[in-house]
Amino acid sequence: MCKILILYYSTHGHTEILANAIADGGRSVIEVDIDIKRVPELMPDDVAISVGAKLDQVAPIARVSDLADYDAIIVGTPTRYGRMSSQMANFFDQTAGLWAGDKLVGKVGSVFVSTASQHGGQETTIISTMISLMHLGMTIVGLPYAEKRLLQMDEISGGTPYGASTVTDGDGSRQPSEIELGIARSQGRHVALTTLALLRGRAGIAATST
Ligand SMILES: Cc1cc2nc3c(=O)[nH]c(=O)nc-3n(C[C@H](O)[C@H](O)[C@H](O)COP(=O)(O)O)c2cc1C
Repeated sequence: MCKILILYYSTHGHTEILANAIADGGRSVIEVDIDIKRVPELMPDDVAISVGAKLDQVAPIARVSDLADYDAIIVGTPTRYGRMSSQMANFFDQTAGLWAGDKLVGKVGSVFVSTASQHGGQETTIISTMISLMHLGMTIVGLPYAEKRLLQMDEISGGTPYGASTVTDGDGSRQPSEIELGIARSQGRHVALTTLALLRGRAGIAATST
């Protein structure tokens, strides 16, 4: 059995929807167990209410120590000026103990994102988040163009070879499209298959090495 954590932050719910689609894709692979967890909110309640934050998110709050329990971690964040949200950065800023103990080395890492505008920093947010995962020793997995919806030009859409994404519009009124959700499911499936292959390969190496 391989264990995958989808770890996300979402103010308005778009990243949450992508997280659920990624989980659906991962669960299409047998022998995969998927948990979805959120990082803690940092905004005071009155501020969260005043910005219209989605307060009914059901995913449990992650503890930093949870990360060591998984074979793969798929990180989702809305962009903030082209980089990850402070809520997600705050969470990763507490992983020094895991880093010092090599606890995340060799685990699979992957990233997805939400932005308001089409060119508002999807790639920069995903790739700069990957840098943190690489410092922790994780093996980065993207989203291959074998997912042909990445190439479609018929409608405005998120979706990058680095990870799934959605575009929300400035007022957050746009919801993840069927194309974006399909791409997100592909990422979940691709990460699950890659993680299983890595685990089996390592088990084979351990069994044959002296
Ligand atoms: C402080 C701040 C900075 C933001 N910076 C960007 C940005 O650089 N580019 C962009 O397209 N959207 C930006 N946004 C919009 C958010 O990315 C958008 O609200 C988010 O993707 C919605 O996802 P959610 O529903 O999961 O919260 C910003 C929002 C805030 C509050």
